[in-house]
Amino acid sequence: MSEGLVQAAYIIAALLFIMSLAGLSKHETAKVGCWYGIIGMGIALVATIFGPQSEGTFWIIIAMIIGGVIGIKRALKVEMTEMPELVAILHSFVGLAAVLVGFNSYGLHIDATMPEYLDAAGQAAFLTEQATLTNIHNVEVFLGIFIGAVTFTGSVVAFGKLSGKMNSKALMLPHRHKLNLAALIISALLMVAFIKNPGNIFPVLVMTVIALAFGWHLVASIGGADMPVVVSMLNSYSGWAAAAAGFMLNNDLLIVTGALVGSSGAILSYIMCKAMNRSFVSVIAGGFGNDIQVSSDQEQGEHRETTAEEVAEMLKNASSVIITPGYGMAVAQAQYPVAEITQKLRERGVNVRFGIHPVAGRLPGHMNVLLAEAKVPYDVVLEMDEINDDFADTDVVLVIGANDTVNPAAMEDPNSPIAGMPVLEVWKAANVVVFKRSMAVGYAGVQNPLFFKENTQMLFGDAKERVDDILKAL
Ligand code: TAP
Repeated sequence: MSEGLVQAAYIIAALLFIMSLAGLSKHETAKVGCWYGIIGMGIALVATIFGPQSEGTFWIIIAMIIGGVIGIKRALKVEMTEMPELVAILHSFVGLAAVLVGFNSYGLHIDATMPEYLDAAGQAAFLTEQATLTNIHNVEVFLGIFIGAVTFTGSVVAFGKLSGKMNSKALMLPHRHKLNLAALIISALLMVAFIKNPGNIFPVLVMTVIALAFGWHLVASIGGADMPVVVSMLNSYSGWAAAAAGFMLNNDLLIVTGALVGSSGAILSYIMCKAMNRSFVSVIAGGFGNDIQVSSDQEQGEHRETTAEEVAEMLKNASSVIITPGYGMAVAQAQYPVAEITQKLRERGVNVRFGIHPVAGRLPGHMNVLLAEAKVPYDVVLEMDEINDDFADTDVVLVIGANDTVNPAAMEDPNSPIAGMPVLEVWKAANVVVFKRSMAVGYAGVQNPLFFKENTQMLFGDAKERVDDILKAL
């Protein structure tokens, strides 16, 4: 493929990526958006592999086949509840790739041959220009490795926390903000040392170790409740890492793609922070402002238990019901019997609606997808802001496998790790039934005072089994 053809292919691919992002922003066009992305990536791969600068095409194809087979196998097997951790581990690969590209392109010097016709002044200007280009390249290498290393370990920790392999509580090292600041300052000094003496790779190696530790610490010190923001923030970092790799490799498409991913991830993180009433800066700075938090996973009084038959009776006598689903409904796959109960009650004239918290479950839109899958009508599925004022006039609220998203401590306890996060105000209803298997805490690791309120009853067991029992009793 000629250079001109490759550039044309890159422009088409970049346009398809932009159209893909536009498509993904709406439910109706999301599928088409995915296809734009797939086609764009296909074009980009063909142009890169068969372009004039490509070497070792055979080995690249072998590596792609091995990687592709592993990727397809994993993607086919992954449960929807495991999607965020899959995304997190994929981000770590982008980070690692940027680090490897950085070390690999360290040796690449910009050594163009000096034209013979230049006079002494021209030669001096030529040499200055070469030195500047080499400096720019070295800065790219340094920054690319730094961003890549932070993304790599940060994503590995995010994977560990999301998959439950690591404790999701925030790591609170003493002087942690000073440690972060010191890591940044030392890295900046190392960059100056490296640019002054590019022949010595030692500062880059030291910076890599610092950046790996920095990325690890940054995400480890963010609490479970802020993990959705962290995942989208790492998405953004992985974009910047890819853009940095694009600069190092002189690949325009990689720069454009990296910038698209980087900026869209940053915008999504900002939107999520606003929705959860978190400060963007404090989340990306690694839980800055979390200092006053105390762990509160102790039980806070007596709870009352109920049975499926009693709940069925309560539902029959109700005129308005709100269901607030969470992660547990997804794990139990309880959406199908929940949809049946909804239909049964609606046939009896009961006003049944759903209240969806923006971070219920483990990925944005998780609950909406499950309910749509079970054919719950769209018009009874409402966002938190649309339904929060209606709880006070509601007879029964069914909290199905949700915990953090219905925790009154977010509003009542300024020391709670989830303080300030908007929640579904279910406790204002006349009766609340909480479906879960035990008194265990939710994702953020904090106890929920809702379980000990007078109008709350616990219905223990697997959500699907309990909902099935209610369905039978109805
Ligand atoms: P969680 O706070 O995680 O609570 C889920 C509850 O479901 C748990 O208390 C668990 O209690 C129960 N459960 C689990 N399996 C169950 C089963 N088979 N049957 C019945 N109950 C079951 O869920 P949430 O209210 O949906 O809140 C989401 C949390 O995840 C938030 O903290 C959010 O920040 C975080 N998060 C969200 C996202 C996105 S973008 N949505 C991404 C990552 C993290 P038992 O163990 O006692 O059964």
